[in-house]
Amino acid sequence: MFDMLSFIELKRDGGEASSGEVRSFVKEFASGRIPDYQAASWLMAVCFNGLSEAELREFTLALADSGSRMTFGKDLFLVDKHSTGGVGDKITLILVPLAAACGLSVAKLSGPGLGFTGGTVDKLAALPGFRTHLTSGEFRDQVRRIGCAVSGHSEDLAPAEGKFYSLRDVTGTVPSLPLICSSIVSKKIAGGADAFVFDVKCGRGAFMKTRPEGKALAEALVSLSRSLGKKSSALVTAMDQPLGEWIGNAAEVIEAVDVLQGRGPADVRELSVKLAGRMLVLAGKGTAEEGERIAEDTLSGGGALEKFREFLQAQGGPVEAAEDPRAVLPLAGETMFLRAEKDGTVDSVDARAIGEGVKRLGGGRQSLHEVLDLSVAVRLCRKEGEGVRRGDPLLEIRYSSGEKLREALPWFSRAFVLAEKYEKKSTAERSIVLETIE
Ligand code: URA
Repeated sequence: MFDMLSFIELKRDGGEASSGEVRSFVKEFASGRIPDYQAASWLMAVCFNGLSEAELREFTLALADSGSRMTFGKDLFLVDKHSTGGVGDKITLILVPLAAACGLSVAKLSGPGLGFTGGTVDKLAALPGFRTHLTSGEFRDQVRRIGCAVSGHSEDLAPAEGKFYSLRDVTGTVPSLPLICSSIVSKKIAGGADAFVFDVKCGRGAFMKTRPEGKALAEALVSLSRSLGKKSSALVTAMDQPLGEWIGNAAEVIEAVDVLQGRGPADVRELSVKLAGRMLVLAGKGTAEEGERIAEDTLSGGGALEKFREFLQAQGGPVEAAEDPRAVLPLAGETMFLRAEKDGTVDSVDARAIGEGVKRLGGGRQSLHEVLDLSVAVRLCRKEGEGVRRGDPLLEIRYSSGEKLREALPWFSRAFVLAEKYEKKSTAERSIVLETIE
């Protein structure tokens, strides 16, 4: 019989549990035989004393095996991407068809947005008729047929991980590297991919606030994946200001289509190409430079847009969105502009404040089952380093309810810091990709 008290005491005193003990713990907790207070106590001990490499591997596999794993057969090599979450992060919408158009197989299972960051499934739900949840059979068939599929994951994907995450959320045990890594990698393993690219965001609008923290997480994710026999690499990317210009579910789909059409903001395009390049490297299709060149050519040659059309058709979405997304995805009818109160240069745009504001407009969840208003959005009229005159617009706000706008405005107002003299940041800091971990 599993002795939970000894298991906690061992970790409290800095000891190492056997694989069998780690497996039993996860199994017992998942089936409700261990009370939350004991599991929480162990989680806190891990926050202080960490996990050994062997414990981390076993814990991750036990989480992955707590539900059913997706399998695709040996003939497919699947490459997946995971972002740790940011504001305005619509990269999956571009990257999935782009990577598939480059000849890769991408089976993307997405979770809901966490906190002030949006989730891919909510963005795709803005497309009328689009099926955001596929059965595992449909998901597998579609990947085989067109090279890609995106689906909200079922409750059966690493269910023990979800149970641990909920407990961590209310016991101050989220910020622990081994717990974060096992949480992310277990879901990737259960999703069936052979290789992963991690987009680890860092900055004001990210889970990891500083570049060293982002780098440490990126290294830990790559090292854990490797120890489990999966190829992986990670980009540490800037998330101080939001990615791109638009934030809001329908608006982000429109911006993603703009990029697929060869337009759109440079930072979104750059990151999509760099991540696709890394995915090609992992699939053995060349060096990072070659991968990026293939991705760039596929994007500018229209191949990614054509694949997006196929992807829409396969999941029941409106194919016209690939031509004229604005006709298919109306934004909220009311508009207001937040304007600069003085002349100056935009020193910073706080991504977190923008994300919190959009959430309060109705674009993100404040409680678990809240129905979102997918049409609300904001557009950054100015980004870091751009000059403004008093009265110039900083932010275009598209809203549906005056009451919600009143809740959101304080967040938007504090997001912009104007400086009289802007200190141009170094090239490394201005580029969206800060570090690459192989
Ligand atoms: N995202 C996850 O999926 N898990 C964590 O623990 C933190 C961020």
